[in-house]
Amino acid sequence: MSLPRFEIFLAAPPGLEPVLLDEVRDHGWTAAKAVPGGVEIKGSWPDIWRANLLLRGASRVLVRLGRFRADALNTLHGKSKELPWKEFLAPEQPFTVEATCRKSRIYHSGAAAERVAKAAAAVTGAEPSEDGLRIFVRIENNMVTISADSSGDLLHRRGFKEDVAKAPLRETLAALFLRSMGYRGETTVLDPMCGSGTIVLEAAEMAAGLAPGRGRRFAFQEFPSFNPQAFDRARTKALGGRADTSLRFHGSDRAEGAIKAAKANAERAGVSGLCRFEQRTVSEVTPPDSPPGLLLTNPPYGTRIGDRKALADLYRAFGAVVRDRFAGWRVGFVTSEDALAKATGLKLEAAPPVPHGSLKIRLWSTPRD
Ligand SMILES: C[S@@+](CC[C@H](N)C(=O)[O-])C[C@H]1O[C@@H](n2cnc3c(N)ncnc32)[C@H](O)[C@@H]1O
Repeated sequence: MSLPRFEIFLAAPPGLEPVLLDEVRDHGWTAAKAVPGGVEIKGSWPDIWRANLLLRGASRVLVRLGRFRADALNTLHGKSKELPWKEFLAPEQPFTVEATCRKSRIYHSGAAAERVAKAAAAVTGAEPSEDGLRIFVRIENNMVTISADSSGDLLHRRGFKEDVAKAPLRETLAALFLRSMGYRGETTVLDPMCGSGTIVLEAAEMAAGLAPGRGRRFAFQEFPSFNPQAFDRARTKALGGRADTSLRFHGSDRAEGAIKAAKANAERAGVSGLCRFEQRTVSEVTPPDSPPGLLLTNPPYGTRIGDRKALADLYRAFGAVVRDRFAGWRVGFVTSEDALAKATGLKLEAAPPVPHGSLKIRLWSTPRD
């Protein structure tokens, strides 16, 4: 029996679609295509499972239920009823519909969401709710795209990080920035302002061949069409064995709490043996006793005017440390302000801006040799 095939949308932070595309292709989806906001692939249930389990850069995995034209709410309701809802929603399962409308005759997103929810409930007996499985409706130029979220919690929630320091970077972003710097798990990585250790942990997991989704549940496990035995087999195969690595991953931070959090997170993620965390200021950092690797960090960036001088001083000090002690290393950092990047005095290339909360951040990196 052939498996049903779906269009699958892998969401990425805008600006990082090409980086996610690169990762997706590395996992064997060679026909993948980058589109605004993500990457599209085609596949069946095992592809949906693997994408959730393996992709470090995707923020969620959406499965397309259907795409059709509708220029009135009644048409939206009628055509929505024809979609394969029963694969995704069980009777009494809570679900929520989120709609966006752009340049379309249907312009009221609340009304659009309500019509689609009614159609899905009528077909399956599932219960529209504030919460539960998420259905996304996008209406653009009168074309309706309806998708089910197969991930549940956003995928940056790997399931290991309970301790968070100030202003953590999402794991998905950390992984995409590592990949942007060319990192594939084959060099030492050092983060001298590591906070709760996100960059160091992602790097260590990549080197150890640990899949990001190994420790969490996914929304697709609630779908009525879910086949737990087939998933268990696919999961075992996808997770593979742990790779041996002699590399070490180094994080430091001036804050004691950050170092405690980073160590606890590394422990839970099963990579504490590969990671070294120490409380140090950036000016005290020296390279580890290993061949040069990658220095990637996410220094503080302030929004308050009073922070400016102190921040510029910190970036200047960071630039000096890099110049004086890290010859031969590739260096990158993520910040929201071009002026702070320039304060390092380093020769840098800037990547496109990426939304991060209310700010836009960019990866700045030293040019490749
Ligand atoms: C934006 S946070 C990093 C967050 C981290 N990427 C994470 O995911 O948790 C910036 C970090 O820089 C640290 N920091 C600030 N000034 C420092 C200095 N002079 N030396 C070392 N660390 C410093 C702060 O304690 C904070 O943890």
